[in-house]
Amino acid sequence: PVEPVLAGRHVIVTAGPTHEPIDPVRYIANRSSGRQGFAIAGALAALGARVTLIAGPVSLPTPAGVDRVDVETALDMAAAVEPALPADAAVMVAAVADWRVAPAPQKVKKTGDTPAFVLIENPDILATLSHSPQRPSLVVGFAAETEQVLNHARAKLTRKQCDWIVANDVSGDVMGGEANAVHIVTADGVDSWPRTGKDEVARGLARRIADALMGAA
Ligand code: C5P
Repeated sequence: PVEPVLAGRHVIVTAGPTHEPIDPVRYIANRSSGRQGFAIAGALAALGARVTLIAGPVSLPTPAGVDRVDVETALDMAAAVEPALPADAAVMVAAVADWRVAPAPQKVKKTGDTPAFVLIENPDILATLSHSPQRPSLVVGFAAETEQVLNHARAKLTRKQCDWIVANDVSGDVMGGEANAVHIVTADGVDSWPRTGKDEVARGLARRIADALMGAA
């Protein structure tokens, strides 16, 4: 039995991809499976936290003890964060689409011309939360990179004003896979964890979040 060290604490977790519709039958997506975020939500709940999991479109069961809010687009996900506040911590694992298009009201047809789509940048949910007056005391972002993993993670920590960036190299089989190798990047330095299962990464992170919140209490 695990001690419920996070009892009385509320944590928001975002997970999965977002889908950005092009027309009523098509969308832009990415390869995120939601597994790492769902595992983190479950591990936090197992430590006694009240967890609000804001999930993009994935086919995963809701972890035990977790309150789940399903969303489709980045704008939906952004809108779901505010009513979930206040929270003691937020772990933003979702692979939010960077861009959306203004969706066509009817199915786009082949006409002989190549359709052109104008990409509109989505709001940065993590950066918005970090700058919010209701900012949780611990804000954790993720960084999925295919090169220069630590450099990009450090830049993200500064740009998004979060407390930690959990960086992973997704150039291999991480997206959709079972295992992950992460680096925890903070203002104090970098902890690199060995490659292991996503559930074990989740338990390690939940433990570290509990330590940080208890230290801050
Ligand atoms: O900039 P990038 O997308 O690589 O940053 C990744 C981190 O920012 C993740 O924690 C992700 O959940 C978060 N993010 C967000 N809203 C966006 C883009 C990224 O919350 N629009």
